[in-house]
Amino acid sequence: MSYARVTGLRSVELGVVDLNRSAEFYSQVWGLQEVASTGDTIHLRGTGSEHHVLTLRERPKASLLGVHFAAPNREAVGQLHERAKAYGANVLGEPAALPVDAGGGFGFAFRTPEGQPLSISADVKQHPDVVRDRSRPTKLTHVVLNSARISEEINFFMDLLGFRLSDSTHMMEFVRCCSDHHSVAMARGNGPSLNHMAYEMQNIDGLMRGSGRLKQNGFNIEWGVGRHGPGNNVFSYFIEPNGFVTEYTTEVEQVDEAVYVANTPEYWAAYPMRPCRWGMATQPSNRVKFAMSGKLAAGEEPEDESLRCDDVIARRLGR
Ligand SMILES: [Fe+2]
Repeated sequence: MSYARVTGLRSVELGVVDLNRSAEFYSQVWGLQEVASTGDTIHLRGTGSEHHVLTLRERPKASLLGVHFAAPNREAVGQLHERAKAYGANVLGEPAALPVDAGGGFGFAFRTPEGQPLSISADVKQHPDVVRDRSRPTKLTHVVLNSARISEEINFFMDLLGFRLSDSTHMMEFVRCCSDHHSVAMARGNGPSLNHMAYEMQNIDGLMRGSGRLKQNGFNIEWGVGRHGPGNNVFSYFIEPNGFVTEYTTEVEQVDEAVYVANTPEYWAAYPMRPCRWGMATQPSNRVKFAMSGKLAAGEEPEDESLRCDDVIARRLGR
């Protein structure tokens, strides 16, 4: 019997200081759509079928509250739960029915060795309609987590959850759970925290239209537009009002399991066009690097002038 594995990325869940201000950004500017709200929580969908691709919960401090994955069915959820316990993972309860307002389904929550909050679920309600608007995100396609214990974390994703290694660089490890080149990457550094999340656009025209909407609303492109080495995806990075980094991306490499071979850090270090295959994008802005470290969302204010994000902080405080 083949063992159960994670087969997709559903959504990310963020603690935000001002729920309404964050929901306004993610619906009016980022292009998601509210599907459910209760008390301090709002769920938003993309144009694809997933019930929601982002959950916002009002909290005293901005923080990563969850990265949520899919399993093919309830039996797989049960098997992964058993494996997680046997692995010695910090498992938060038995698999159970999930809240109906969040699409229902069946799943359980747990933490990585470093403490990152994850969950796995099956049978979550899907939308029958797919919205035709290429300027808006279809789905959450990857999350990048900062880690101070990267080999332990990557082994956890591969050995327990069934992820496969797609690429290694000196900075990052990329792992996949479906045909997308990576659904998760781990960045070497201080952790645990959220480095960034990436939402898929239908095509490059849609990515440019979405990026234009961000610019028109006063959000700088902090890195891009460019095309990455690992994953070959087109990218455009922004800092959102809580200080998290969020990316529009498209054309991520689709992996053929029969022939794919992961490249090494040495391969990527020698790759001729870095950090952008087109030679278009230069290095990320200093302030997006600061935000990717997780420090901006955590409320740290940099002393170095070039790292200041006063416009982001102003939006957060509603000045
Ligand atoms: Fe990314």
